This record gives sequence, C-alpha cells and structure tokens, in this order.
Amino acid sequence: MTTTLTEIPITAEQLQALIDRVPRVELAFKPTPLEELPRLSRVLGGPRIFAKRDDLTGLAFGGNKVRNLEFRLAEAINAGADTVIMFVDILSNSARQTAAAANRFDLKCVLVLTGRPPAQVTGNLFVDYLLGAEVIFADDAAEQRRAVDHAVARLQAEGRRPFVLNDSPLFGIAAALAYAEATLELLSQLAPQGIDPSHLHLYISSTGKGQPGLELAVRALGLPIQVTGSAVRYTDGQAKAWVAQGVNAAAAFLGLNLQVNGAEIDNRDRYVGPGYGIPSEAGLEAMRLAARTDGLLLDPVYTSKAFAAIIDDTRQGRLTAADTAVYVHTGGLPLMFNLADQLGSLLI
Ligand SMILES: Cc1ncc(COP(=O)(O)O)c(C=O)c1O
Repeated sequence: MTTTLTEIPITAEQLQALIDRVPRVELAFKPTPLEELPRLSRVLGGPRIFAKRDDLTGLAFGGNKVRNLEFRLAEAINAGADTVIMFVDILSNSARQTAAAANRFDLKCVLVLTGRPPAQVTGNLFVDYLLGAEVIFADDAAEQRRAVDHAVARLQAEGRRPFVLNDSPLFGIAAALAYAEATLELLSQLAPQGIDPSHLHLYISSTGKGQPGLELAVRALGLPIQVTGSAVRYTDGQAKAWVAQGVNAAAAFLGLNLQVNGAEIDNRDRYVGPGYGIPSEAGLEAMRLAARTDGLLLDPVYTSKAFAAIIDDTRQGRLTAADTAVYVHTGGLPLMFNLADQLGSLLI
C-alpha cells in the first residue's frame, strides 16, 4: 500500500485538523496564558520576553504532560485498560501528572520510579502518594524494567487490565502532537500582543519529547521562527538526534512529508551544569531573576536551566531589542520542594 504524504507548508488549520484526528480525552486548561515579563526584559536590557504559561495547564500543579496525557490516556482507555503503569525517575513531574489524570478516568496508576525511597517524602513524590498512586522503587533501569514486567503479571493475575504507557509507540508522539498544538495556540496569541513572528525565538526545556512539537509546527507551517531547546541530562549532544527523531516520527504519524536531522536542531546541553536533578549556577541565577523581577517561579531541574538560554543569548547579543523571546514554561514547580534542602542555602 502506498501512502501519499501531505506536502508542506500547510496552514495552521490543516495541521490542527490532522491533530484532531487523533483520539484524545479532555484534561488541560487551554489556551494557557501568554504573559509578558517586562521587568525581566528591562533588567536584561534585551528582547521582549513572554512566558507561555504551561505550568498552568490545571491538573495537580499543571505542567507540560497534561497536554500529552490527553492522547496517552485515550489510547490506554481505548485499549480497554483499567490500570496505567508508568516508569520514570523519582523526581518525575510526568509521574505526578499521570497519577492525577488517571484519577479523572477511574484508572489505577502504578508508578515504577528509579531512586531510593527518601527519608522525607516531599515534592512530586509526596503528591504521587497523595493522589493514591501505587509507587514501586527500583535502583536502576534494569531493575525498573523487571519491576514493570512483574507489576503487569501481578495485575493481570488479579484480573486487571494494565497498560504500560511508556511502552506504546504513541508515548513520544503524543508529546510532539501536544506541543505542535501548543505552538498553534501560541501563534494565535501573537497578534493580540503585537508580536512579530519574523523576529520570534521560542525556548523550551526538552531532552527530546516536547521540542519536536515546536519544531514540527514551525517547519510544517514554513515559519521563520527560531526554536531552542535546552537539555537537562547528558552532555554529548545526543538530544539533538532525539529531537530530530521525534519530529520525524510525529510527521510520519500525521502523514506529513517532513524530515529533519540532528544538525538542523538547536538543542543545547551547556546548561545541564553538574548533572540531572542538581542545581546549576546559571539555573539558580534564572530562578532568582525571574522570581525577583516579574514574580515568575521556575523549578531547579528543568525550567530554570532552559531559561538560562534566554539570559545567555541576551548577553551574547543573539537576542536584541528587535526580537521577542517566548519561554514555554513547562511547569515542574513541586521540584523546588524535592530540592529544598539544597536550594535554601543557595537561593535565600
Ligand atoms: C518541567 C519539565 N520541563 C521539561 C521537561 C522535558 O520534557 P522532554 O525532555 O520530554 O521534552 C520535563 C520532562 O519531564 C519536565 O518535567
């Protein structure tokens, strides 16, 4: 069977129509606000800066995953599941949002998390428990996989119908579809704010799943918008390839004739700092600055490190007063409390 691919560029309406064909449930508050940060712009002496407030998607402290869960949960529900299993890191925001979303559809949620049970249960882990998720800990990825398989077998033996969200090919594609749609939403918010799309730069924290959505929308519509992602783990440039793979997988899924390679992607790993889940100097500066100018809160693991790219680009002259920077705020704020013991002495 030959499948005819749709040539690009296409219109925003055509891209939205393609996304609308994918089964989904309703979860997120949309559109999220596009908020200007004038004090921050003034202090940096650079571009107009806006935050696309996806920390306000509405469910259990919000964040970027609420959008992709609309597709991920629809798939699990349509497959007849009564339980969703998710395997991620102990710090995960995704785990928290998945547990909350599962409750909305009467699904049991099992979280298999890498990490050791901490002495004090706080931040995302506290919320995971509060939401009633079953939490299983694993020391490393291999043990985590065994724990997932064991949980599936146990639940099936109990007569339940488990669905492992991360094992579905839709898992990553859902994130790209969600952020392609968020980009369309953002584009419709530009004119009312007087933003010229020809001098627009989008920034997002992404190590491979959200940035593809921005790239897909901008490229499918043929817009001259710059997209910059900042990775939060690995410093070998690998995230560029993951972003490209994410764009290509989502484009193929939607039937678009669109392919990119890693060399065309701006994904930076220079703001990772000492490592995943460890605050960096640049991230701490961003946290302080955003909070003390426009009262915008950033988290220490994802959003502050990505915001460092805007500060860096302004200082390096890559962003000027002629430009507009839109920061896609992906949420993650409970992580402040996971890392509160370190942050107290670093920030106050
Ligand atoms: C707050 C926040 N921002 C950004 C990301 C990055 O998303 P991805 O690497 O999947 O694009 C995550 C992922 O867990 C997150 O929790």
